[in-house]
Amino acid sequence: MADAIAIYLVNPEQLQTEHPDSVTWCQASGFSGQSGNICLIPDANGKIAKVLVGRPERCDTWTLADLPKSLPAGPYTLADTFSDSNATKLYLGWQLGSYSFDRYKLAKASLLATLQAADNVDVAYAKAATEATYLVRDLVTTPANNMGPEQLEETASNLADRYEAKMKVIAGGDLVIENYPMIYAVGKASTRAPRLIDLRWGSGEGPKITLVGKGVCFDSGGLNIKSATGMRLMKKDMGGAAQVLGLAQMIMAMELPVNLRVLVAAVENSIAGNALRPLDILTSRKGTTIEVGNTDAEGRLVLADALWEASSEDPDLLIDCATLTGAARVALGTELPAFFCNSSQTTQALLSAGLALDDPLWNLPLHTAYRSMLDSSVADINNIASGSYGGAITAALFLQEFIQTDIPWIHMDLMAYNLRSLPGRPEGGDAMGMRALFELIKQRVK
Ligand code: BES
Ligand code: ZN
Ligand code: ZN
Repeated sequence: MADAIAIYLVNPEQLQTEHPDSVTWCQASGFSGQSGNICLIPDANGKIAKVLVGRPERCDTWTLADLPKSLPAGPYTLADTFSDSNATKLYLGWQLGSYSFDRYKLAKASLLATLQAADNVDVAYAKAATEATYLVRDLVTTPANNMGPEQLEETASNLADRYEAKMKVIAGGDLVIENYPMIYAVGKASTRAPRLIDLRWGSGEGPKITLVGKGVCFDSGGLNIKSATGMRLMKKDMGGAAQVLGLAQMIMAMELPVNLRVLVAAVENSIAGNALRPLDILTSRKGTTIEVGNTDAEGRLVLADALWEASSEDPDLLIDCATLTGAARVALGTELPAFFCNSSQTTQALLSAGLALDDPLWNLPLHTAYRSMLDSSVADINNIASGSYGGAITAALFLQEFIQTDIPWIHMDLMAYNLRSLPGRPEGGDAMGMRALFELIKQRVK
C-alpha cells in the first residue's frame, strides 16, 4: 500500500508559521487557510507531499467530510492530534462523507480517498455509526417499488440473523386476529400486506428500551389523496422505521447491555375500493375509538397500536421515530428534527447529546391545552385536529393517548431526507438524531 499522505488543518496564521515553504504555492493556488478550502502541496517530483485544509474555528464531525470525494483516491492520515472525541468525530465525518447511493447506476462509485484512524479514534463506535447511517440512507432512498413492507421485514430479519435477535411478524389478516386494527386498516388497500415487525435482543440485564418506527413505505395520502408535490417524496415515509432499525443496529453492534425491543409498523397507504375512508370509525388496540378525520394522518394511526403494545410491557424508555407531520418541518425546517418528551431530565440529556455529537434536534412542547382540538363528536378521539395550527404538537398529543403516562417517552418527528447536500450529508435519505439517541441510551447504562 502506498504511504499515507499527511493532512494538516491550518488557519491563515498557521499556514504562514507552520508551512512557510508552502506559502508561495498556496498563494498561487488561491489558498489562504480559509475554513473548508483545501490545497494539495506537491513535492519536487510532482507527487502530493501533503494536503492543507482550512481549519474552522471549531472542528466538528463535518470538518473533513467533503475530503473523501474531493481528494485523489488513496490513503491519508491526519498530521495533527485531537482529543479522543474530536478524533472520533473527524474520522466518522470522513466515513459519512464516503457514502454514495449507486444501487441503480451502471457506473458504480469510484475509489475514494481513505483516512487512517488515529490511535485515539473509537473505531468500533465510528464503524457502528457509519454502518447504521448507511443502512438508514439506503432504506430511505430506495424507491417504494423496491422498498415495501416486505423489504422492511427482510431488513429487520437480516439484522436479527446478524445479531442473534428474535423476530416475530404479524402480517395481513392476522393483524385483525392479533388485535392491531389500526395497522391493518391503514395498510389493507395495498397489494403489499401491512405488518407489525417485532424484534427482541438482549441478555436480560439492563434497562428495557423499546423503539417504535413509522414504516409507511409510500404515503399517497389514501383517499384524502396528496397533491403531486406533496406525494413526490413519500417513499421516505418509512424514515422513522429506518432510523429505529439503524439505531437498533448500533445498539446491537456496540453490545449495549440493554433489553431491546423494536416495533415497526410497516404499511403502504394506498387507494383501492377497500381503502380506509374519511370519517370511518375504528376501535384501536387500546380499545378507544378513533374517527378518521383524514386518511393522510395515517402515521399516528399505525403508531397508536404499536405504541400501545410497546407501552404494555412497561419499558424504562420508549422512543418512537416518525416522519409524522409537515407541520414539524414548517416549524423547524427539514434539517432539524423535532422531539417531544414527557420527562424534562430526558429532554435535557437528549438536547445535550445532540449538541455534543453534531446531531442537532429541537424540543417542542406536549402542550396539553391543545388536546381538546382532537375531540370527536362521535368517537373517543379524532386523528386530526380541528384547527390547522400546531400540527406537530397535536400529532404528538394524539400519540400520547396511546402511552401509559408513567413511561419515559420520546417522540421524534423527523424529515429523514436531505433536500440539499451538506458535507457528509448527501441529498437523499438520512438518519437525523440517531447518534444523539444512541448517546442518550448509552448514558442510561453507564
Ligand atoms: N407523512 C406525512 C407527513 C410529512 C409530510 C412528513 C411531508 C414530512 C414531509 C403524514 O402522513 C401526513 O400526511 N401528515 C399530514 C397530517 C394532516 C393530514 C393532519 C400533514 O402533515 O399534512
Ligand atoms: Zn400521510
Ligand atoms: Zn405519512
